[in-house]
Amino acid sequence: MKTTPLQQSFGVEIADVDLRDLTADHLYPEIRQAFEEHSALLFRGQSLDDDSHTKLAELFGPLENRDAMAAGRDVEFEVPAVTNVLEDDTVSDAHSLHTLNLQGNMLWHTDSTFLPVPALSNILTAKVVPSSGGQTELASTRAAWAAMPEDMKAPLKDAIIWHRLSHSRSKISSELAAQSEMTQWPDRPWRAIWPNPVTGDESLFIASHAFAIEGMGLQEGQEIIEAAIEFCTRPEFVYSHSWSVGDVLIWDERCTLHRGTPWPYEEPRTLKSICCSVTERDGLASVKIV
Ligand code: OGA
Ligand code: MN
Repeated sequence: MKTTPLQQSFGVEIADVDLRDLTADHLYPEIRQAFEEHSALLFRGQSLDDDSHTKLAELFGPLENRDAMAAGRDVEFEVPAVTNVLEDDTVSDAHSLHTLNLQGNMLWHTDSTFLPVPALSNILTAKVVPSSGGQTELASTRAAWAAMPEDMKAPLKDAIIWHRLSHSRSKISSELAAQSEMTQWPDRPWRAIWPNPVTGDESLFIASHAFAIEGMGLQEGQEIIEAAIEFCTRPEFVYSHSWSVGDVLIWDERCTLHRGTPWPYEEPRTLKSICCSVTERDGLASVKIV
């Protein structure tokens, strides 16, 4: 496989692979190894439809089906769209709750830290891109953790961090944070350090949803969380992707943060996203509070 670094500290672009050709024995093992080592993979010029996107995601782990998790029963999986295009084909108003919800993605975050099982990966592919803006940015919390000064690491090393979706949404709008979609998940604690079971590298497992550190005052905990996110998202740990239709980005949620960036909201922007849930072999036990 021909690989080119995306950035100085993490991520590779992989050329000459059609993601529709992967099977458990063919190409997936090499790509999975690259995922473990590099945390973010870029493939350009792909042609994933919902079926091939789903088939690809199934190689990484169980598909994250939030509707089923929320309902507590089987609900048919549908590939989630990250889009400002509404059911009636109009573009959502810049000030609507729909657009505010997309703006929630513009805070540095890790997907699904508020779910009963967190995400291993997100496979995001561009369907419609705006004329400017709308980049997706990734930051390596593995490279950042390795470079972090000891005094900043100290309160995080053995920490348990609490996550709540409505916490991040409240930074955008109190009305958004009050929606039942945002308040339906009970607060979730995870250990702050996630050692990769394949490479042994440690990363900081943190997100915009993080609202408290166990055993610390709320204010003190939030200051530590904010300072850590700020450190992890310094330019030397960040890759910014400008989308072309057909691009596919796959990232490791255990060791990255990501965010969207604004675009002219009167223009349509549609990405399709499938997260897979972590399983025991991905090191779930090291962050889970028993
Ligand atoms: C996501 C996400 C950001 C973007 O799909 O999980 O955060 O750029 N997307 O749309
Ligand atoms: Mn996201």
